[in-house]
This record gives sequence, C-alpha cells and structure tokens, in this order.
Amino acid sequence: MTRGVESPTTSRAVGAKPVAVVVLAAGAGRRMNSALPKVLHTLADRPMIGHVLDRAAALAPARVAAVVGADAEEVRAAVAPTPVAVQSPARGTAHAVRAARPHLEGFDGSVLILFGDTPLVTDRTLRAVLAPLDEAGGPALAVAGFRPPDPDGYGRLVAGADGALEAIVEHREASPAQRQIGLCNAGVMAVDARRLFALLDAVGDGNAAGEYYLTDVVAVARARGLGCAVREVADAEEALGVNTRADLAQAERVVQDRLRARAMAGGATLRDPASVRFSHDTALGRDVTVGPHVVFGPGVQVGDRAEIRAFCHIEGAQVAEDAVVGPFARLRPDARIGAGARVGNFVEIKAATLERGAKVNHLSYVGDAHVGAAANIGAGAITCNYDGVGKSRTEIGARAFIGSNSSLVAPVSIGAGAATGAGSAITRDVPPGALAVERGPLRVREGWTPGRGRERGRGTPAAAPDGKE
Ligand code: UD1
Ligand code: MG
Repeated sequence: MTRGVESPTTSRAVGAKPVAVVVLAAGAGRRMNSALPKVLHTLADRPMIGHVLDRAAALAPARVAAVVGADAEEVRAAVAPTPVAVQSPARGTAHAVRAARPHLEGFDGSVLILFGDTPLVTDRTLRAVLAPLDEAGGPALAVAGFRPPDPDGYGRLVAGADGALEAIVEHREASPAQRQIGLCNAGVMAVDARRLFALLDAVGDGNAAGEYYLTDVVAVARARGLGCAVREVADAEEALGVNTRADLAQAERVVQDRLRARAMAGGATLRDPASVRFSHDTALGRDVTVGPHVVFGPGVQVGDRAEIRAFCHIEGAQVAEDAVVGPFARLRPDARIGAGARVGNFVEIKAATLERGAKVNHLSYVGDAHVGAAANIGAGAITCNYDGVGKSRTEIGARAFIGSNSSLVAPVSIGAGAATGAGSAITRDVPPGALAVERGPLRVREGWTPGRGRERGRGTPAAAPDGKE
C-alpha cells in the first residue's frame, strides 16, 4: 500500500551531527485573507504544517519545536505532541527562532530552521543543507537556494566577488539590481547551534517591515568572518512558499502530482491520472484500477485488485480486495466494502458494512447498516435510518434479497435469505427465509386511454373498492 507524499527516511551520513528542527508557524499570514491560521490550510487534506513536521521527523531529529502565535490554540492542537514555543507578538522570522531558545538549551549540533508555509521541501534538500555543517571546518550556516519562475516576494541570495554567499536581501529591501538576482532563499536554513543565538541577537529591525529578519544572520555571520554555504534545490517547485490562496492552489497541484506518481509506483493503474484527486493518506493496494475523475478524501484504504470506476467520491472508507465501486458512487465515512462486493451507480453508503460479495448496484442509500455476505439490494432500495431525531440501524442477513424501491425503516432486521417485495416499506423485522411484502392493491382500469378524464383535465376518478371501474 502507498502512504504519504514521501516515505520517511533517516539516511544521513555516518558521523553526521545531531539535528534539532525548529518550524516557524507564528506568522499572521495576512496575505491568505483568512480566519484560519495560514499553516493550517491544507494540502491533500493535511495542514501545511503537518507536511513540514513529517519532513522533520524523517531526519530523526534529537529535538523538534514549533513556534506558534499567542492565540494559536488550533495550531497547537495540529502540531501536538510537538513541543511549542510561543512568539508574541510576531516580529519577524529571526524573532521567531529566538522564541525557541528554551527548547535548544544545551543542544550541540545543527539547528535546521523550516517554515510552516514551505510544505513541499524534500528530504533530499534538507540533507543537502545540513551536510556542509557536518564537514570539519565547515560553514556556520547553510541555506537552500532556488530559482523560482517569478522571484517576486522572495529574499535574494547576494554573492560576493568570490561567488560565496554574502547576504540575503528581502524583496522589499532589494535594489533594482538585486531584484535581477534569480537565486532566491528557499526558506530552509541550517545553523551551527553554538553560533545560532549570538547571530540572532545581532539582528536588528531597521528595515521596511520593522521586523527581525532571519535572513539577516547571513550578513552578520559574514561580518564575523564565518562561512555561509548555499545548496541549490534540484527542482524549484519544492521551495514554493505559500503566502496566498493562489500559492496554495499551486502547492496542491504539486502534492497531487507526487501522490499520483506514488500510487502508480505502488502498483495502481490510474486511467487518467490528472483527474484523480488523492488525500495524503490514501492507501491503494496492488493492481487497483482507478477510473477518471475519482476523489479520495481522507482515510481511504483500497485492497488489491479492487476497481474504483469513474466519478466516485470516497472518504473514510475501506474497500476490500476485488470489490468494484462506481461509476458515480459515494462512499462516506465508515463505509466498509467487503471482498468482491459491488457498489454501483448513484449509490451512497455511510457507516455501513457490506460483507463479501454483497451487491448494491443502483440508486440506493445504505446508512448505519450491516449487509450480510452475498445479499442483493435492488435498485432504489434505501435504509430509512433517521427519524428526525436519532439514527437507527438496519441489519440485512446473508443472501437476503431486498426488492427494488424497498424502504427499510430502521431499526429493522431482515433475516438471512429473506426477501422483500419491490416497493415495500418494511417497518418490522423479517425472519430468515421469509418474504415480506407491503403494498396496496393494484388497480387496473382497462380502456383508460385515450380520451378519459386525464386528457380532459378532470383529474383521476375514484376507483371502485375492487380496483375496477
Ligand atoms: C520568507 C523569507 C524569504 C524567503 C521566503 C521563502 C524572511 C525574512 N524572509 O519570506 O527570504 O525567500 O520566506 O518562502 O525570513 N513566521 C513566524 N513569525 C514571524 C514571521 C513569520 O513564525 O514573526 C513564520 C510564518 O508563519 C511562516 C514563515 O515564518 O511560516 C515565513 O514567514 P513569511 O511571512 O511567509 O515570510 P516570507 O515573506 O514568505
Ligand atoms: Mg512565506
């Protein structure tokens, strides 16, 4: 089964220094124009900060801390159990790292600073940025650089005459000449723990934003004769910083492309990959086939060889091996589709288990129910699980046959092998093997058309009690 955007890895060089990771997530995120803190906006149904913490965890760090704002209860909850440091008020990225000082007390190694709004960074880039600090006589800090198609808004990496990194200049502070620099700050920095706070303490807020910029530690380090390294990321896409809703949409596209690639590498066939939407935790077995325009919400597992046909919407559901779902089916949370079972078009399943080989093929609603093995639910049959106040369960035995358009008024139980007649409203339990029919007498009027009441707009004449006129 495939899981997540990137599989965890801990493969760093032998003898590498211990790592502490600080994730910055206290910024106001004003450019999102949202009541929700920026780092809680989701990619593939997972908050951005969750993606970043995943990448941090893959490095098997000695310590991790997230820097959050004062009123950020939701952010705290989202990062739990990661320890948090509070930055209040938010006065810039250097100020934010300073807030994490208590979490780094006594730590000796490399401090990796990540941004909660840069969720696409790969393990490879993080390892590349940490590597220079592991070398004997290596630099005091290293940053990831990238060349975005549009560098507006990013800090520029300014090189000295020898080509080495001299400073990072924020976009709003940059001169026209500096704005021509294509190489930008990707928002990943590794700093020698013994130097970090001395460098941060020397950063001031004398800039256009009146903020303490983390990026200023580069100029401070250079002024002290310390080395600063740059490692350019292989693919500019992974350094995308999400500041606006448009950035968020672009990041979602990247995450979806990765999830599609993973699903296919894991042995699933996607008939039209670009139209399939995954959740970060979608788990597909081998030889699963997914048709066009399928949406996977969170918490979906699909067993080997199952087929999800076009235009299905699936969340919180399990589909066992060899089952066939869709086209046009909706599986809601706690739907469990057994091995080889069938769920056909315009069928909605919620909090219901279909045992092995059960079939619900057309136009049905099955909610709060258990459907036994090889039972057949006819077209248009539904469970009436809600009486306006509470939910009740429906039990359908193995091999039962539910006639088309039956309404099973819960709580109700249909015994194994029992049948219900088409159109019946079933309000009492049906014993195993029985037939339950609830239906008014059929009235047949011969010679009704043409030329009788309906055509002349007189309405339907009352029928005689025997059903004949
Ligand atoms: C930052 C960098 C810029 C880089 C870009 C990459 C600085 C000064 N600028 O700019 O060089 O090219 O990221 O995406 O570092 N945060 C706090 N507390 C604060 C301010 C920010 O925790 O007081 C957090 C935010 O929640 C966010 C991250 O730090 O996760 C970056 O802040 P943001 O305001 O997005 O910086 P950018 O303008 O994108
Ligand atoms: Mg940003």
